[in-house]
Amino acid sequence: MGWAGPGWAGRLWAWPSPSGALYRLIRRVKHTIFLLTLAMTEKHTGHNYATANAEHFSERARSYRTELLEELARRCATSIQKIYPFDVNTTEVLDFACGPGLVAFELLPYTKRIVGVDSAQGMVDVFNHDAQKKNISLDKIHCVKIDSLKGDQSDVDGQLFDVVICVQAYHHFEDPTHITNALAQRLKPKGRLIVIDFADDEGTQTILTRKREGAHIHTVAHKHGFSFEQMTDMFKSAGLQDIHAEYGFKISKSEMKSYQGHELFGKALDGDDDISLQYFVAHGEKQS
Ligand SMILES: C[S@@+](CC[C@H](N)C(=O)[O-])C[C@H]1O[C@@H](n2cnc3c(N)ncnc32)[C@H](O)[C@@H]1O
Repeated sequence: MGWAGPGWAGRLWAWPSPSGALYRLIRRVKHTIFLLTLAMTEKHTGHNYATANAEHFSERARSYRTELLEELARRCATSIQKIYPFDVNTTEVLDFACGPGLVAFELLPYTKRIVGVDSAQGMVDVFNHDAQKKNISLDKIHCVKIDSLKGDQSDVDGQLFDVVICVQAYHHFEDPTHITNALAQRLKPKGRLIVIDFADDEGTQTILTRKREGAHIHTVAHKHGFSFEQMTDMFKSAGLQDIHAEYGFKISKSEMKSYQGHELFGKALDGDDDISLQYFVAHGEKQS
């Protein structure tokens, strides 16, 4: 894992930190090198992120819900509600890579209907079981398993949505550009795609690099989060307009440690520095 490892390679990756044109140029070159390295490695090893994720998250589905992930889901739901004017009588939502539905169930009181989609059967089962346990009709909320999006009318049975969300999952996707295109096609005219994931700022890079020293590296295709520029480019190529990519919320190491379930971040929370994990929010509208 030489390209992404800690030590000198990790420090080189985090350089340079100042903002400006040179910074953006170097980040773009580094990202291109990263994608090429990734492609070559995958070709060589035959690694398939989609399969690795489906297996990993199926196994983890029943124990996924923790206090820490519930808190992060609440912050994601709050960010999403600031972007789109939810109407309980009309708003239909697609939650792509929804996991067990922590964000979906937060948004449900403000939504007419939510369809969750995930590639891990275990997640789909936990999501639907929770809806059943809460006595909510499947018309209102349910989850379906989809192995991969085709980017045509066959996705999600051709249904269209007012809001498509994808939270804490882009870093798992081998081809986020393809997925952005496919998700944009699931939007009604004037509908909005909202993506939340790890930003590529310095504190977040440090935490993610330390986390990588632990397990689960085989499920993470984009190990350095995403820049605003990368997100904007993907949204543009999907034909979206009124695009925004900005910092959403952050959570410090000390606060993370105060929640049950912080062990998920392993070594990332070691050390005395109280750096934060920073999330971006990117959103764009489908043309009418
Ligand atoms: C970190 S979890 C996030 C779950 C949920 N969005 C949340 O914020 O709690 C990532 C989810 O993405 C799903 N996933 C990963 N790759 C996927 C793919 N190619 N297609 C659909 N789902 C995928 C995983 O199964 C997992 O449920």
